[in-house]
Amino acid sequence: ALTVTTAGTLVTGTPGQAALPGWGRPVPVAAAPAPGSPGLGDSYFPDYGNGGYDVSHYDVRLRYEPATDRLTGTTTILATATQDLSRFNLDFLLDVESVRVNGWSAAYTREGTHELVVTAPRAIVKGQLLTIVVRYSGVPSETLVGGYTGWTRTDDGALAVNEPESAWWWFPANDHPLDKATFDVSVSVPAGVEVISNGVQPRPPLAEPGNRMRWGWRSTKPAATYLAFLAIGQYDIVTDTAPNGQAVINAYSATLGERGPAARASIERTAEIVDWESSIFGPYPFEAQGGVAGPIDGIGFALETQTRPVYGPSFWRRGANTYVVVHENAHQWFGDSVSVAQWRDIWLNEGFASYAEWLWSEEQGEGAAQELFDFTYAAYPEDSEFWQVLPGDPGADRVFNDAVYDRGAMALHQLRLAVGDEAFFEILPAWTAEHRYGNGSVAQFQALAERISGLELDEFFTTWLFTAGRPELATAARATA
Ligand code: ARG
Ligand code: ZN
Repeated sequence: ALTVTTAGTLVTGTPGQAALPGWGRPVPVAAAPAPGSPGLGDSYFPDYGNGGYDVSHYDVRLRYEPATDRLTGTTTILATATQDLSRFNLDFLLDVESVRVNGWSAAYTREGTHELVVTAPRAIVKGQLLTIVVRYSGVPSETLVGGYTGWTRTDDGALAVNEPESAWWWFPANDHPLDKATFDVSVSVPAGVEVISNGVQPRPPLAEPGNRMRWGWRSTKPAATYLAFLAIGQYDIVTDTAPNGQAVINAYSATLGERGPAARASIERTAEIVDWESSIFGPYPFEAQGGVAGPIDGIGFALETQTRPVYGPSFWRRGANTYVVVHENAHQWFGDSVSVAQWRDIWLNEGFASYAEWLWSEEQGEGAAQELFDFTYAAYPEDSEFWQVLPGDPGADRVFNDAVYDRGAMALHQLRLAVGDEAFFEILPAWTAEHRYGNGSVAQFQALAERISGLELDEFFTTWLFTAGRPELATAARATA
């Protein structure tokens, strides 16, 4: 018979069937423990994330050798089973040495490109607390999926910065924004190497044997797995206090050369920009602020890693660039605190962060949002491929297409014209408040915009987000400049 005990303990017996007194045959009394699903049903990435459990915390404890790119470590995952489980999956690529579940050694195997399948060493019941310990090692820059690695090895270290796939190369995870968790990340590196990650440093780096230092970082607000990052190498770290009292921790790669001052002139404005964005989007959702100027041979993009975006070196090519700082910090609200429910909802991230740049332009006296709208609309001829990509459903291989950003920002500007400034600037903070630390969908955003504006916006959303071709502009929309 099934013996359900308190959460945190395991179950004995044979779940699924029990004898009914007086009858000779067993009847089902509970669902048999079933495998956790290998994905969370994302329409673009069906096997990202896993079903059957919900992670609350990752403790990622690593050791890294910049000379060889060798990474070894132990990740401890605190989770709760959301169903009776016979097995469950983690998303991970490196070589696993052992897996334990609540102290019990667990068998594991690999499936597909990134699935680590863990057999429950004893039956797991719904609601049970799970402590999953995975020990592993590997060379992430040489661990390729379809010829690609989301881990960037550089001359002086490495960057674990990528979207949407990033965790696979450095910690086992339930790798989908639907399952957010807090993090402790610590990395032991040779003395003289810096390690930057999200959140705050609960203590200074600790000396370890072998002339090594262990750096520690902590995220106390829930984060999506792709927003956890590592920057390892030669960095100058600059700390300060923001107007809201929070720690500002910025880091500048020592490899930037003549671009270094432009990086500083941009990233040192983070606290000012976050302050301004807070006045429009609502209270800043996280525990710390900052930015990382990545090395010259690092990434070719910027990413809104939680509390501390990482910027590729190209952003400082022509001098300071506050627009990218505005963009990545706008994502702290739109993307990080309010995350996509499905990757198809990417407009909720990129359209909003791009529109924040237009608002900053307006605020800085460098051109009104209407001028940027007109300029962008005219920049893409009617027959351009650009107008064929739907910002509301761009396709899995086009989630970062220009249309998601530029047409996405245009859509928001048209929404602003349709509902008026008063409603528009009420909708933005209402959205970040109602879905804080959670997820949102485009349909939910439309419903909120309709509720606050009192308008029926179905045709508007269909035209701007879900219809191929360049939308016609109502004369009224043009006239409101
Ligand atoms: N979310 C990033 C941004 O701020 C884009 C990341 C693009 N990712 C990539 N691997 N290129 O726009
Ligand atoms: Zn973005």
